[in-house]
Amino acid sequence: ASTLGASAAEHGRYFGTAVGANKLGDGTYVGILNREFNSVTAENEMKWDATEPSQGRFTYTNADRIVNHARANGMNVRGHTLLWHSQQPGWAQSMSGSALRSAAMNHVTQVASYYRGRIHSWDVVNEAFADDGRGSRRDSSLQRTGNDWIEAAFRAARAADPGARLCYNDYNTDGINAKSTGIYNMVVDFKARGVPIDCVGFQSHLTNSVPGDYQANLQRFASLGVDVQITELDIAGANQAAVYSTVVRACLAVARCTGITVWGIRDTDSWRTGQNPLLFDGNGNKKPAYTAALEALNGG
Ligand code: G3I
Repeated sequence: ASTLGASAAEHGRYFGTAVGANKLGDGTYVGILNREFNSVTAENEMKWDATEPSQGRFTYTNADRIVNHARANGMNVRGHTLLWHSQQPGWAQSMSGSALRSAAMNHVTQVASYYRGRIHSWDVVNEAFADDGRGSRRDSSLQRTGNDWIEAAFRAARAADPGARLCYNDYNTDGINAKSTGIYNMVVDFKARGVPIDCVGFQSHLTNSVPGDYQANLQRFASLGVDVQITELDIAGANQAAVYSTVVRACLAVARCTGITVWGIRDTDSWRTGQNPLLFDGNGNKKPAYTAALEALNGG
């Protein structure tokens, strides 16, 4: 097929992008979005600070703009993210212990309930593992409420939206390493104890290369009985086009790799300022990386 989304769909997969609600008035941006992608992730609008700016007062205006645009144009929505140590509202940052635990679980329940039936996959918990080379949990106020905070969040999300795929999402987990193995062990444990988890997201913020065991890493998770998704793909560096191709092929080679999301549309939309890590240039023109990704989707 001639677009990313349609080509991915021929393999039973989606091809998505992160979207900012403040860009939905930009004709060039929306033109590419509607033409190329069949899944969207809110880049910031569903995070805790955006959806519950004061405790118990939920605001969905900007998130709804994205969800409504997606649904009106036949796109699925990935929910991002219910709990994360970053981008918490100030009131939550000043909480701890059982008060924080119950506020966090209420947040999961409220947001997942509000969007029940409209979210394909939820990043229930984001970036809860450390980069310490030991596969440990990240220290955070949420972690200090007890090691069971992640499973409590997944159970609350399942109860609130039984139809959504529930994902754990993280970065620097693209190859087989201590951090990805820590997450792998958590999934093994969750599966053994019946904690609801359906998928693992690999952010895949890359520069110039992808670990040689990328596909093997996706496969070892898939073999546990969870879907895997590439959730925030962007690739900096001169080798960009070739690495996009490698990543797309890896996903297609893993039966349970259900989709790929790039973290923005044009280079000027990227959080990686000046690194030009995306598929379209600042004018919205297709880059060689776009062609490489499309050709990989089409088996070229
Ligand atoms: O909206 C405010 C604006 O009102 C204010 O004037 C301005 C001043 O700094 O900040 C604006 O908020 C910014 C927000 O993006 C919206 O543009 C924040 O400062 C800025 O920190 C925030 O950055 C986001 C970042 O997450 C926050 O950690 C990026 O857009 C977003 O791409 C990035 O996405 C994360 C994923 O959620 C998780 N994985 C890593 C990824 C990259 O960091």
